[in-house]
Formats: sequence, structure tokens, C-alpha cells
Amino acid sequence: MAIRCKSDYLKNFVSDADIKAYIPALEKAHKDLVEKTGAGNDFLGWYDLPENYDKQEFARIKKAADKIKSDSDIFIAIGIGGSYLGARAAIEFIKSPYYNNMKKDTPDIYFAGNTISSSSLAELLEICEGKDISVNVISKSGTTTEPGVAFRVFRELLEKKYGKEEAAKRIYITTDKARGNLKKFADANGCETFVIPDDVGGRYSVLTACGLLPIAVAGIDIDAIMEGAQTAARELKVCDIEKNDAYKYALLRNVLLNKGKVMEIMACYEPAFQYMNEWWKQLYGESEGKDGKGIFPCSVIYSTDLHSLGQIVQEGQRNIFETVVDIKKSNHTVIIPNDAENIDGMNFLSGKELTFVNQNAYMGTLFAHLDGDVPNIILELDSRSEKDYGYMVYFFELACAISGYILGVNPFNQPGVEAYKKNMFALLGKPGDENAARKAELEKLMKSF
Ligand code: PA5
Repeated sequence: MAIRCKSDYLKNFVSDADIKAYIPALEKAHKDLVEKTGAGNDFLGWYDLPENYDKQEFARIKKAADKIKSDSDIFIAIGIGGSYLGARAAIEFIKSPYYNNMKKDTPDIYFAGNTISSSSLAELLEICEGKDISVNVISKSGTTTEPGVAFRVFRELLEKKYGKEEAAKRIYITTDKARGNLKKFADANGCETFVIPDDVGGRYSVLTACGLLPIAVAGIDIDAIMEGAQTAARELKVCDIEKNDAYKYALLRNVLLNKGKVMEIMACYEPAFQYMNEWWKQLYGESEGKDGKGIFPCSVIYSTDLHSLGQIVQEGQRNIFETVVDIKKSNHTVIIPNDAENIDGMNFLSGKELTFVNQNAYMGTLFAHLDGDVPNIILELDSRSEKDYGYMVYFFELACAISGYILGVNPFNQPGVEAYKKNMFALLGKPGDENAARKAELEKLMKSF
């Protein structure tokens, strides 16, 4: 397995009896998943996706990426939540958080439509001045406000720069196969279109065109990603925590929740993992946080955050556990130089590899946090390769579905996300009687504060 879930450091927190008590719930979750009898069973397309994806569309994704690489300095991926986090995570994890600043023969990639900030959009438009650009708007529903507004702005820019016809050749649309405004726009303008399948929800969609087009534009081998995901799908089939580490992880986090550990901190010692953290937080937060249940997903990059959040992890409320992703292979080697004058007193590190120091920071932190009563699950990951990324995505998706079923929620809906939208649309004066009534209610409420 490219990811190994190690429970060695849980022995003071979790007993064999605790684990045994959860086996029936795990077996029920497994049955509901494979027999499609659980809640949200119309959103299980991700489960077989690594084997059963649309090969023709996959070839079109690669062709589109080649065109974009040949005619664009900048590629803008417009989307929010599940429609951008996986792609950004892949590019930073496999390539680098510095991807745009590195020597390369692929376009710079920026993500837009994930905020409603004027400044953010205006600054990005400034970066695009004088550059050749292509845009990929990604929205399963085709109705989401943040990407919708950003797309309007970029469409105007492209049409002014290239004219309507050429602009349409630089707009790539990833959306539902038949429904929504984006699909209508694509059909009317003859834009290249990719599909997010009906049975794959936003946060489970990174291995569809939703994630794969931006990832391919970055020059990443998407065949290798799918191969890694396929390996995971084949290896992680059995309902046995000795043989299926995704199930083991799902079970352990529920055992810890039952012991009052209501927050999970995903930690990694590689900054390249930062957007994997963001992707993971959306996946678990939206999948589990409902019906008054769920583990609150937080994240850190160590050792950076040991100097900001380390104090509260060590000595704050004891309602947290950590899951550390330990990446076994570093992409680079840096040797710490000797200083004849030893001005900083750090000659004890001269000639040492930086990864050696990072590894010792990890071990030191692990034992400090265990002393501080913070249980640690360790997920050992082989490397930052394409294959391991694909494996990891599938591992976390599977563990999330199983964990949600153990928890007793539907891991594939997100009804709570609508609440802010209803208020926002009402306040913005969106037409409709319901919006007008809600606006009047909100205005009264605002006056009462
Ligand atoms: O997981 C989900 O379904 C959501 O987080 C969506 O990905 C997000 O809201 C974006 O939706 P859409 O792709 O419809 O614009």
C-alpha cells in the first residue's frame, strides 16, 4: 500500500476493545457502500471511477491541455470548493507550491472564482495584462455565484482581446453533461466541454475532468495519477482493518471521536501538502459535518505552525487528535553548510541533510504531543509522485465515505451550504418572492442588533 495507517502511537489512548466495538459499524458501512444501500447511494460514481472513467474524454483532456500549453502563457481555472481544491492540491503537491515561479515550458496557472474579493480578482487581471490566456470554468451546477461572477469578468476580457469567436476557443467548460447555464453557454458558443458525471459529487470529483484538465496543463502525467488511483481501488476492497488501511483510518478516527476528540488536525512536514490539507478539510468537513455530528477538520504545516499553533496543540483543551502524513521520500537534498566561525552555534548540524533535521523535528514533536495527551495517527506515504497522489486521493475519499457511514450521516450531500446562499441572494435582491420575504426578515433582524 502506498499509504500505511500506523496506530502504534495510539496505544495509550485506544484499546483493542475500543476497536473491536466499532467492527460491526465498519462492516455495516462497507456493506452499504459496496451494495449501494447507504444514504446518498446515487453519488457513488467515484468508487469505480479509477477503472470506469470515460477514456475518450480522457484523451480529449490531454489534447486540450496540449493546445493550452502551446497557445497560453496563463491558464485560469475558475471554480470553488470541490471544483478547484483537488487540482490546486495536485499541482502544489506533485510539482511545487512555487510552480508559477519555476523554470518550465507549461503555462502559469492561477485559480479564480473561489472568493468574491474585488482585490483578488483585480490583481489577477493585472497579472494577465499582455499575456495570452485560456480559461477553464469548472462548476458542476453551473449556478455557483463565485465562479459565475469571475467567469463573466474573464469572458469579457477574452472577448475584448481575441474577439468572440477566438475567445470561445480559449474557454474550456467543465460542468454537468446536460443541465445548467454553463452547458447552455458552451453549446451556444461551441466551447470545448468536459463532464462532471451525475454520480460524482463536487468534492469527490478531482479524478474527473474537473481536476484533470488543470493538472494536465501543469505538465503532470494524468495517466500515472489514474494508475495510482486504480491500484488503491484494487487494494482497498476488503473489509479488514489489518489489510485495508483506509478502513483502519476511518475506524480509528471514529473511536477517537467517541472519546471526546472532536477535532482532527491533519499535519504534514512538507509545505507542498498545504493544499492537500485544504482539499482534505473540504472532503471531510462537508461529508461529515451534519445532523449535529462530525469531527472538525483542521490542518497545519509543521514545523511552520509549531511556532503559531504549537502551544495550543501542546497544552490547550484536550479535545484534539492529530493525523500526521509522513512522506517517506523527499524530492530534493539540501546539505547544511559549515561555518568556520559558528556564529549561530549551529555547527552541530554542519553537513547534515535538511530532511534529517525535519525528521527529527517530527519525532520530537510526536513525542511532545503524545506527552501532552494528543493521540497521533500516522499515515506513511511513499512519495510525492503522480501515482502516490492518485492513490492518496482515492484512499481519503474511500476513508471519508466509510467514516461518514460509521458516523451515521450521508457523506455525499451538503444541505448546510445552502443557508448562507439563501441569505446572500435575498440581501443582493435576487428576483423571487421567497428572496424578498427573507430580505425583509433579515433587515428586521439586523436592526435588532
Ligand atoms: O462538494 C461539493 O459539492 C461542493 O463543495 C462544490 O464542489 C462547490 O460548492 C462548487 O459547486 P459547483 O461545482 O456546482 O460550482
